[in-house]
Amino acid sequence: MRIAVLPGDGIGTEIVDAAVDVLQALGLPLELETAPVGGAAYESCGHPLPDSTLRVVDAADAVLFGAVGDWKYDTLERSLRPEQAILGLRKHLGLFANFRPALCYPELVGASTLRPDLVSGLDILIVRELTGDVYFGQPRGRRTATDGPFPGTAEAFDTMRYSRPEIERIARVAFDAARKRKQAGSAGKVTSVDKANVLETSGLWREVVTDIAAGYPDIAFEHMYVDNAAMQLVRNPRHFDVIVTGNLFGDILSDEAAMLTGSIGMLASASMNDAGKGLFEPSHGSAPDIAGKNVANPLATILSAAMMLRFSLGQPAAASAIEAAVKNVLAQGLRTADIHSNGCTLVGTREMGAAVVRAL
Ligand code: IPM
Ligand code: MG
Repeated sequence: MRIAVLPGDGIGTEIVDAAVDVLQALGLPLELETAPVGGAAYESCGHPLPDSTLRVVDAADAVLFGAVGDWKYDTLERSLRPEQAILGLRKHLGLFANFRPALCYPELVGASTLRPDLVSGLDILIVRELTGDVYFGQPRGRRTATDGPFPGTAEAFDTMRYSRPEIERIARVAFDAARKRKQAGSAGKVTSVDKANVLETSGLWREVVTDIAAGYPDIAFEHMYVDNAAMQLVRNPRHFDVIVTGNLFGDILSDEAAMLTGSIGMLASASMNDAGKGLFEPSHGSAPDIAGKNVANPLATILSAAMMLRFSLGQPAAASAIEAAVKNVLAQGLRTADIHSNGCTLVGTREMGAAVVRAL
């Protein structure tokens, strides 16, 4: 099993180091190859996603990714900024299905900004379409306006677009996931989020998801406008089981859902293509302000490694073992700064990683 390890920028190195230690403690035949990405790759190779890194990625069965980005690259032209690495990898590997679970661990229920009675037991899966929408739609660019209210002035434009097959495949992924979760005791419900009262793309989205839903009579199904979904997520988050939505709405709602759990530092994510190859990364970013200080929470990355074992490497038992080890260290009262509360033991990135290895 070959894994491309791309630590990236900021806290990326520390959290990926911790996850690699956990993977190596499993005693599985894993071959890890590390390559630079993001700002780190721009520094060493002049490009955030160099060909040498793409070769490592192409030769691997799965990608373990840290985080990219730093304010110091904000003035670079867009094509050289660290974020282009993650967008380029999604496109290159065809990673159209992004799974972002938002899970409230019982030990951390007090860490949420919402009342414990609203978030306790929360277990939502956001399925975000990841290779279409306004993120990748052409044409896009800048020009001088020839019409509209201010002709002759600078304007910029992006194109929101979705085709029927793109919507069909992400809808199937969401309904399949809902079915699997139902077998494990979840509600078995899909909420499709769009803006069909305004947008053409959402009109098609709604039509296609409704067609796919007909093939899943065992799964409850509803449509919701994105503004209402943003509100319901903080009003009554346990209303949701699986949410399926487009790239842009999914970007926004997944950050919102992550924060409900009180701990974006705990949340893993998987981005999959249709061949089962995936990129696994924490839901949070590179946090340059705390980089190198041994304070970042490595658990989201460790849990992403567990997702990698389950989704791409066919090792569900090893995945469950890691998830159990994470629950174990939380039960021991170990906390990094982001999830710390009175009566718990404050630990650093390395200590948290080592505790997971011990629990394993
Ligand atoms: C995410 C991030 C990315 C996105 C950025 C870094 C390009 O916010 O993975 O959610 O917008 O998709
Ligand atoms: Mg985002």
